[in-house]
Amino acid sequence: MKATSLFIITGTSKGIGQALVRLALQENQNRVIGISRSKAEVIHPNYLHLACDLGKIEEIENKLNEIFPEGEFERIVLINNAGVIGEVAHLGKLSNQSIGQVFAINTIAPAILMNAFVKKYAQSKEAEKIVVNISSGAATKAIDGWSGYSASKAALNMLTQAAQVESDLNLSSIRFFAVAPGVVDTAMQQEIRNSSSEDFSSLGKFIGLKENNQLSSPEYAAEKIMYLIGKEAKFKEVIQDVRKF
Ligand SMILES: NC(=O)c1ccc[n+]([C@@H]2O[C@H](COP(=O)([O-])OP(=O)(O)OC[C@H]3O[C@@H](n4cnc5c(N)ncnc54)[C@H](OP(=O)(O)O)[C@@H]3O)[C@@H](O)[C@H]2O)c1
Repeated sequence: MKATSLFIITGTSKGIGQALVRLALQENQNRVIGISRSKAEVIHPNYLHLACDLGKIEEIENKLNEIFPEGEFERIVLINNAGVIGEVAHLGKLSNQSIGQVFAINTIAPAILMNAFVKKYAQSKEAEKIVVNISSGAATKAIDGWSGYSASKAALNMLTQAAQVESDLNLSSIRFFAVAPGVVDTAMQQEIRNSSSEDFSSLGKFIGLKENNQLSSPEYAAEKIMYLIGKEAKFKEVIQDVRKF
């Protein structure tokens, strides 16, 4: 069967990314390309996994032709979902490597993939084109211990807004969204709970969210994100939060 929708999703080995893949593959006509360093659990004829370290620009560049294939699609969707929290600690205690890694994965890799997406598909007038960058509530809130994470997501928000301005000016008809997925029960939250209250004053609050079953599931977050993609015309603003729709 001819594939009608192409989804390119980063961070598909676990968490929200894995749930997005599973949901996308429920539709027979969807084809999914997933990217992460480790293998994805999903095995499906319409799923292609590409192993790539998004923290390394050269690795991304070498894979661009596989990440963004040629073909006739009714809809092409890029979801920049891969992200890292980095070392949870106050400035003065961070390693320079962690500072670089947070921005490389959370901001630079999405920027490179957006740049390549626009270059490759802006002229595909027939295809509906959507880019969803998975952001965070932390993008608009200063949180101690998360300086790099918050700043990298704030930069991602602005990158997304600027991309939409350009798309409108260039009549590329690409919709860009930066979406906060809520507080989701994934490995990233586990990593946050493993930090110390000295490095992160909100630690107790995050432990409480888990203990009181107040985290949403990756499946729930994925459903919300797919709803936004399916009904993009209903969403006028670039910056979105799944807790608001
Ligand atoms: N969970 C939350 O409460 C929450 C809240 C707000 C925003 N978010 C955002 O939601 C997105 C997904 O987070 P999650 O909670 O699902 O995280 P997660 O369970 O830790 O999964 C992160 C994914 O990113 C991939 N990744 C990490 N480093 C990578 C690298 N160098 N190269 C390629 N892939 C890499 C991981 O794959 P490999 O390790 O196999 O490479 C994994 O598939 C992130 O952007 C995060 O910032 C999450």
